[in-house]
Amino acid sequence: PGVRPLIAGNWKMHGSLAEAAALAGAVRDGAAGVAAAELLVCPPFPYLHPVAIQVGAGLAVGGQDCHAAVKGAHTGDVAAAMLKDTGATYVILGHSERRADHGEADAAVRAKAEAALAAGLTPIVCVGESEAQRLAGEAEAVVTGQLGGSLPEGFAAAGGVVAYEPVWAIGTGRTPTEPDIAAIHAAIRANLVQRFGEAGGTLRILYGGSVKPGNAGAILALPHVDGALVGGASLVAADFLAIAAAA
Ligand code: G3H
Repeated sequence: PGVRPLIAGNWKMHGSLAEAAALAGAVRDGAAGVAAAELLVCPPFPYLHPVAIQVGAGLAVGGQDCHAAVKGAHTGDVAAAMLKDTGATYVILGHSERRADHGEADAAVRAKAEAALAAGLTPIVCVGESEAQRLAGEAEAVVTGQLGGSLPEGFAAAGGVVAYEPVWAIGTGRTPTEPDIAAIHAAIRANLVQRFGEAGGTLRILYGGSVKPGNAGAILALPHVDGALVGGASLVAADFLAIAAAA
């Protein structure tokens, strides 16, 4: 209670410039109707600036990754200050697709989160177990280990966001049971409080992985679920807004 839920749309590598504009416009137009939640969209890098200009103050915009360095010879990478410059206020870091496709380990995620904080961006740091780890009973240990390695010292003071995304629930239509989601979120909360003290008690913890309009209400009602990180359903404005309405 008291924490405004964050409903974040991760567009991943989808859409065209025209589709990004249409989607962002529709979400912005619906945002006032779901004002109990803060809405965030994270377009692919080339669309970030036009979307930010288009939505103005009506909607928050974020990146899907950033580099740990301030600048330099890093072909293809984007610095946190560049994201900030385009109008972004958030950046998703350590998504399981980045961890898998680009070999990002906890230390790299932590370095990126430090860069994001230094640039004045709010990091959304993703953690989550694989299916094998879940079946082996290791989910909680994996997640708390990732938190320990991925969150920088200044994370809580800057109001950082944690996203719990079980890898096996992403894009699969499968979700953990509600008690399983609640258990991991409680463990994340305990870990944040243990590490950061009182500030860890108010940080937002998002659930991600096959969130849809049909399951959002039940998931968002669970204790320590302070919002959602939405992939597929964030590409349909009506679905994304319906999820926000359930928050
Ligand atoms: O960042 C978002 C997540 O990976 C969830 O994706 O909603 O398509 O399962 P999904």
